Amino acid sequence: MSAEQPIPLLQVRNLSVSYLSNGTEKLVLKKVDLEIGTGETVGVIGESGCGKTTMALALLRLLPPNASVLEGQITFGTQDLLGLDRDQLNQVRGRKIGFVFQEPLSALNPLMRIETQVCEGMRYHLHLSKNAARVRAITLLERVGITDGSKCLEAYPHQLSGGMRQRVLIATALSCEPRLLICDEPSSSLDRPTQLKLMETMAQLKESSSLSILLISHDLDLISGIADRTLLIEAGVCRVWVG
Ligand SMILES: Nc1ncnc2c1ncn2[C@@H]1O[C@H](COP(=O)(O)OP(=O)(O)OP(=O)(O)O)[C@@H](O)[C@H]1O
Ligand SMILES: [Mg+2]
Repeated sequence: MSAEQPIPLLQVRNLSVSYLSNGTEKLVLKKVDLEIGTGETVGVIGESGCGKTTMALALLRLLPPNASVLEGQITFGTQDLLGLDRDQLNQVRGRKIGFVFQEPLSALNPLMRIETQVCEGMRYHLHLSKNAARVRAITLLERVGITDGSKCLEAYPHQLSGGMRQRVLIATALSCEPRLLICDEPSSSLDRPTQLKLMETMAQLKESSSLSILLISHDLDLISGIADRTLLIEAGVCRVWVG
């Protein structure tokens, strides 16, 4: 990289991850490289089981205990993510990096109203009062296409449609103004028209801020409209940039 080029927001080098199950170690990510610039939307596609979620979890240091990072570097801004302690990680997760995982229903606590869940990060990281967090939550919900924010905040997860739940999760992920948003199959459980509407919202988010987005999907058609570049992963190996 030449001296004039800015440092990428996220830089992954040579990342290899394995899982140990039933006494057997399985290499799942093999020397993966990835870079995301500020304001850039990078897509990652690949068949089921190729390692997309494993990569997302590794970036957030949320891999399960039976996983091992065998080699590699993950740099976020100037921070070495693999070297951070628990407190430092808490300042990155949800604050500097927002994330939305594959299963919208299991990502929301069924026993808690949406308000508590959307506001939690803002109360913890930004130290906002209950009222200030609520006001900001309504603005965030509007940003992701939920116009009746007050009603939505009162609801429990099961009272919302799948598309609404996914929008709530995106709003929550954005609540502390992260620099990077990682979305793992944000629309895989939705019907096609709802998927397309959600992608429109993602495109608007991208246009309206300097947010960087890592958008994981198995559906190139769906994300090719908004990703600036898309990486194809096959069996844990980065193959080519497509689209
Ligand atoms: N906790 C785990 N323990 C053991 N193996 C795992 C674990 N999680 C994932 N794997 C295996 O690692 C490989 C990659 O899984 P991963 O979930 O990263 O794939 P994916 O590309 O996200 O798939 P999908 O498109 O279905 O979400 C698969 O073979 C999977 O079975
Ligand atoms: Mg996955």
